[in-house]
Amino acid sequence: MIAIKQEPDSNVLIIPLFKEKTPKLNTALSKIVEQNKKFAEEDKFNTTIIDREIIIFAGLDEEKKLTQEKARVFGSKVYSFLKSKEYKEASILEFSSRNDILQGFAEGWYLTGYCFDKYKKEKDKKVDKLTYVTKEKPLQDVCSRVAKIVEGVTITRSLVNEIPSTADPKYIADSTKKLFAKSSRVKVKVLGTQELEKLKMGCLLGVSRASPREPQVIVIEYQGLPSSKKHHILVGKGVTYDSGGLNLKPTGFLETMKDDMGGAAAIIGAIRAMENLGLKVNVTGILGCVENLIGSNSYKPGDVLISAAGKSVEIANTDAEGRLVLSDCLHYATTLKPETIIDLATLTGAALIVMGKSFACVMGNNQQLVDQIKEAGEQCNERSWQLPLYDEFKEDIKSSIADIKNLGKPKGEAGTIAGGIFLQEFVGEYPWVHIDIAGPVWADSQKNYIPEGATGFGVRLLVQHFTNLAK
Ligand code: BES
Ligand code: ZN
Ligand code: ZN
Repeated sequence: MIAIKQEPDSNVLIIPLFKEKTPKLNTALSKIVEQNKKFAEEDKFNTTIIDREIIIFAGLDEEKKLTQEKARVFGSKVYSFLKSKEYKEASILEFSSRNDILQGFAEGWYLTGYCFDKYKKEKDKKVDKLTYVTKEKPLQDVCSRVAKIVEGVTITRSLVNEIPSTADPKYIADSTKKLFAKSSRVKVKVLGTQELEKLKMGCLLGVSRASPREPQVIVIEYQGLPSSKKHHILVGKGVTYDSGGLNLKPTGFLETMKDDMGGAAAIIGAIRAMENLGLKVNVTGILGCVENLIGSNSYKPGDVLISAAGKSVEIANTDAEGRLVLSDCLHYATTLKPETIIDLATLTGAALIVMGKSFACVMGNNQQLVDQIKEAGEQCNERSWQLPLYDEFKEDIKSSIADIKNLGKPKGEAGTIAGGIFLQEFVGEYPWVHIDIAGPVWADSQKNYIPEGATGFGVRLLVQHFTNLAK
């Protein structure tokens, strides 16, 4: 945790150094700071021991170049440095009284404190507490806001990191119910096979057919503004394991496919954070949770499934299952007459080819909403770039046997757009944005405040977007 106090309360003291500024300290310390000015270089940490006090100089480069993202990385570096030295507590002298800078710093600190060590006998070392030394009381509010958002990110990361044989659709549904059991503003409803059959969700049920685990569509209603009937819908891909189905994925692609519910998990975390913050908006999450397995009852390439919207879909590839699950959830979303629909999905490997591991692809039928998502991403550093949904791409999903097929061009040309064009068929005229997070959902190694494994991408983005709307 981060506490705000007027005086340091630990024998480990971090002194942040800017190149152009010397902190005001007592004479003894000032002298030492003067001697250590060379550590003002960004990322430099140096420890000295004075009278049994451990003093750590931490470089912050030039003050005028400090941005919120730099502060985030600094918060992360401070956490990692203390952890590497196995210090449990430390104090840090104030280096900025700007809310946005402290927010970034606190985010970096808290997000780096996450680890998934449930299955390890030897647990990760943790740093328990950092005291930010300042006379500015309001900074306490900034830190508690950050803790509320990071709780959401943590929930998402742990859901995604959980092993696939545990984190099946029922586990996600039960965890969601438990998470919101005591909330007065959040209601959770879970639809099982029977209800999904009644809703004629033929595409979602088709994907789920080879799995012995019941599919679950989880509906989470957050009422932050009960006086209004208007609400926004978040649709999440919750494929708890994607083997590819009969179009089986090869070795090298299967190992992380538990992350294929990263969209659904991000929505759970984001709604939790919004509830924590008391955001004045109404948001409904619709999460399509299924497993895509192989079995004697598998859906097959060549099959035709009938979606809840009534459109028939030729199955050209059982590994393009996400769009099938989402098609029924998106149609369900339209029946609830929302203001906007945003879907979050690990939809295509092609998104990874386009944008790499750090950024998402975004597309939609409403430029204003796309721009809002892009802007929110810039603000919180969960960034995305837009791909076009030109009408010409509709040709790519034409089928000779059904209304549409679940695959674009055979060689995967414009594969991410083909996914978006398919989804667009199910949102009617509602303002809608699709965010393909196949790249940033998972990190192969730690990078500052992004841990190895599940990143929690999407939580801070959605919270930022709805914070902007609620203003
Ligand atoms: N879940 C995958 C996409 C994915 C790939 C997510 C890598 C995360 C990391 C999705 O269901 C899938 O398999 N997509 C296919 C689509 C293709 C058959 C049109 C793909 O990307 O190969
Ligand atoms: Zn797939
Ligand atoms: Zn998938």
